[in-house]
Order: sequence, then C-alpha cells, then structure tokens
Amino acid sequence: MIRYKAIISLAALIFLFVGNTSSQEKQQSFKPGELWPDNNGVHINAHGGGILKYEGTYFWFGEHKTEGEAGNRANVGVHCYSSKDLYNWKDEGIALAVSQDPESEIVKGCVIERPKVIFNQKTKKFVMWFHLELKSMGYKAARTGLAVADSPTGPFRYIKSLNPNAGQWPINFTKEQKEMQFPANLKSWSVEWKNAVANGMFIHRDFEKGQMARDMTLFVDDDGKAYHIHSSEENLTLHISELNDDYTDFTKNFATVMPAGHNEAPAIFKKEGKYFLITSGCTGWTPNAARSFVADHILGPWTELGNPCRGTEEEMKTTFESQSTFILENPDNTGQYIFMADRWRPKNAIDGRYIWLPILFEEGKPTLKWMDNWDLSNIDYVTSLND
Ligand code: DGJ
Repeated sequence: MIRYKAIISLAALIFLFVGNTSSQEKQQSFKPGELWPDNNGVHINAHGGGILKYEGTYFWFGEHKTEGEAGNRANVGVHCYSSKDLYNWKDEGIALAVSQDPESEIVKGCVIERPKVIFNQKTKKFVMWFHLELKSMGYKAARTGLAVADSPTGPFRYIKSLNPNAGQWPINFTKEQKEMQFPANLKSWSVEWKNAVANGMFIHRDFEKGQMARDMTLFVDDDGKAYHIHSSEENLTLHISELNDDYTDFTKNFATVMPAGHNEAPAIFKKEGKYFLITSGCTGWTPNAARSFVADHILGPWTELGNPCRGTEEEMKTTFESQSTFILENPDNTGQYIFMADRWRPKNAIDGRYIWLPILFEEGKPTLKWMDNWDLSNIDYVTSLND
C-alpha cells in the first residue's frame, strides 16, 4: 500500500514538473511593454540593462529590482540571464551580489544602476562597470564601480569605484577653457550659468577629485578599444572616456559631448563607420523625449540629429514611455540593431517593463517606431544609412 502511494506521489510530481515546464510557452517575438517571462515563468528582472554576446550566447545583465519604491535601491545585486535567440531567457541568477558588510561600498541599500559587461580578449576576463551611489548619500557620490569575473554569469568580484579622469582636461578643451575663472554663485539655469557649464565650470570644480559618473554604458570598438560613456557634470554633459587595455581603468583620455546639453541614459552603436548615440533628457524616472547624435570618431565632434521617435505626439514626447539603456548590434547575425529601453515603475520598481524596438533608418538618421509585436525576421525594412 505504502509503495503504491509512493508511486502515485512520484507520478504527481512528474506531472507537475512536466506540466510546469511545458506551460512556459516558447516566445517567438518581442512584445514591448508586456510582462516578459523567463524560463521559470517569472518576469525578467534586469533593468537598466545591457547585453554581451559571448560564444554564441547572449547574456543580459541588469538591475535586480524589488517591490515598492525602495525596490529601486540595490537590495540584491546585478541579475544575469542567458539566451540563444533573444526571445527566451534563462535565469542565471545574481552575477554581482550586494555585500552584507556595512563597510563595503556595495553594501545592501546602496544604488547600483545600468550595469554593463564586456569581455577582454587579452585577460579573458568579463569586466562589469556600473553606476554606483554610496548608501545614504542620495545621488551625490556619482561614482563608477568595477567588478570582474572569469565566467559571464559570474560570480563577479567587486574591485573598486572611482570618479574618473582626476587631474585631466578633456581632449576637446581649449587653452582658454583650461584657464577660465568662473564667478561664484551664478544663478542655476541662468544664461550665464549655462555658458559657464558649457565652458567646463564643473570640470574645473571636480578637476582634483575626478569627474562625476552617473548614467552609463560601455562600448568596444572594432580595434578592441573600450569606452565608458556617462553623464557627468551634474548630468549636464556626457563624457566619453577611453578604458585601458584590460578595461579595468581609465586612460584619462576623454572628451565631452554636448556640453550643458543635459543628456542621460546614453546608448551607442556603430554603423557603416559612423557612431550613433541615443540619449534622454533628465527627468528622473519620468520619461521624456529621446535625442540622437552622430559622429565620425567616437571622441567627437558629435552632431545633433533630433528626436529619433516617430509616432503620435505623446509617443514622441515620452519615447514610447521609456528611457534608453543599450543598443544591441547585429542580433542573430542579421546586421540589424535593437534599441533597448526601460519603462520604469518607480512606485513598484520590480514591475518595470522593457521596450525593445528595431532601429530603422530615415535619411541616414536612426528612427524608432512603436511595434506591439515583432521579430527579427520581419524587419526587412531596416536598411542602410543611405536609403
Ligand atoms: C534617471 C536615470 O536614467 C535612472 O537610471 C535613474 O538614475 C533615475 N534617473 C533616478 O531618478
């Protein structure tokens, strides 16, 4: 009798297990803004994320959010998922865990945002940089943090954080700008203040201790050189900084982009020898209109191309209710580009959604149009820059 019961229980368990896995339907398309279940049927938890392709597998790293408003702080760490096709993602767990040690810079309750991972061919290490705000300091510290791993899924070891480029002027600074003196107490947002910011008032202020680094991304160029791109100078100016050969430090070679332009959320890609940036304005968790820029060299000069969104007024004003985080080049070897953005849910951070859209081109400009449901095979109108 006992044996008979055991067999029944085992059969029930098998049924439950098989039932569960098969109920997790295989996804065959992107559905921007909807819940996006992972292999366990749980909504993907990798916000402000970026993707690394390594040996034929995609790895998606992002902020692990928790419930409620406090869920925007780093209570858990950086989450990693893997996928072969970009539609179906396997939970690989926490790649970089927050520390329980109150002395650690990445102690639970700090802010870890927009983690990005690149692979270094020379050292064979996986290198993660992320925006770090020290616990209980709001967004004042504006540091960039570094963690390194031997495997793409981690565990990543926290190495250090810093304010980049201490003691260095940007390469596009003039002699006059280096020698400029700024009047104290300029009224914020006045014309004089904006001019002073555009001429590097905050670079002067932070010259000794290093520059601010908030919203960020990473980019590896065709020659293997990597760049750290971040909002600096109180979010007024973007900085593009070259990383050293093993990607674990800054070379102090950096340029400013759109001084006093107030850009956040940088996402970059390269197409046909040109570099394109898509950014947002600065309105906290509330979405605003995206901006786009083009350059022939990564360190600039950059030219403004305007709002890349096409659609209704509301869609254009809010970037389809989202904010850029990353652009994935050549997904599935199609030569296409995917714009990745976050639809934040600040009151319940874990409920944030992902807006992935194909980048289309109009007269050499990257453009974005809303799609409810799309896949890589039906984007045959993603064409060359000159169409
Ligand atoms: C906008 C940034 O892009 C986000 O990453 C986050 O820092 C929020 N601001 C915080 O308000």
